[in-house]
Amino acid sequence: MAKHRIVLVGAGQVSSELGPAWQRGGHELLHVVSRTDDSARPLGELLGCPWSTNLSEAAGALADAQVVVVAVTDAIIPEVADAISDMVAADCTLVHLSGATSLDHLRAPAAVVWPVRSFNAKAHSVPLAQTPTVLEATSDAAMRVAHDLAGAWSGRVTEATGDQRTAAHLAAVMADNYANHMLAEAQHVLSQRQLPTDLLRNLVHGLTQGGLQGDARERQTGPAKRGDEATLARHRALLPEDMRALYDTLAKHIASRHNPPST
Ligand SMILES: NC(=O)c1ccc[n+]([C@@H]2O[C@H](COP(=O)([O-])OP(=O)(O)OC[C@H]3O[C@@H](n4cnc5c(N)ncnc54)[C@H](OP(=O)(O)O)[C@@H]3O)[C@@H](O)[C@H]2O)c1
Repeated sequence: MAKHRIVLVGAGQVSSELGPAWQRGGHELLHVVSRTDDSARPLGELLGCPWSTNLSEAAGALADAQVVVVAVTDAIIPEVADAISDMVAADCTLVHLSGATSLDHLRAPAAVVWPVRSFNAKAHSVPLAQTPTVLEATSDAAMRVAHDLAGAWSGRVTEATGDQRTAAHLAAVMADNYANHMLAEAQHVLSQRQLPTDLLRNLVHGLTQGGLQGDARERQTGPAKRGDEATLARHRALLPEDMRALYDTLAKHIASRHNPPST
């Protein structure tokens, strides 16, 4: 796999893990640009490369870069990509890391390298190694660059179109963000009644097994699937007011998937 000279724009949760991974993988980190000293300095120091809080101080590195990774909040990817497009060489590959943002915001050659993982303050308990990664690119050459970057942590890559990537992002949001929200609310129900939150540990183990083995639907159990209206009513009475409509909607949806009305 080819090694690249990389400039990182954005020094947040994702850059702080991927920057060191690229360095360990043999890529050269030329410069880190971020919005404030507080994010740019620690990552620049960790990587042992120059850092700055504006693009003009990184002009030399941007001109020399083979890859510029735009690792900023999704909403400002277009603005940052626009600002750097005249500062980089014509054959420099622009890359963003977002599951939800169109590749069209980057001028070609360009690629998306989207690691399907949550990067957050507690993410260290889930290793980066082998994280599945979705790639999209404007050309074969840009796709090879995307493979080179993803190769720093994963052998498991999926090439996708923009529509496929959006669908994968939707699936990731449902599986991670929404399931985690339900888990957080379930833990709240327990702790409100002075019950230990690890009461759920074997259930959560089964949940993750369903995620890993792709057979989640076959593992569904519970009162909504069984049509046990008395239990559903008792639960509704215990729930915080602002959870009741959601609980009812989910119960109806589970019932309709598992017990569709006969035609
Ligand atoms: N977090 C995840 O779980 C996850 C997973 C996969 C992919 N991604 C994608 O990865 C990308 C980065 O996400 P993140 O979670 O790392 O975001 P983040 O933690 O919010 O970090 C964004 C970084 O961009 C910097 N920034 C903001 N405006 C800037 C500007 N105009 N110029 C230069 N830097 C600027 C911020 O600086 P300050 O800190 O100084 O404000 C911050 O360091 C996004 O496209 C996201 O969709 C995220």
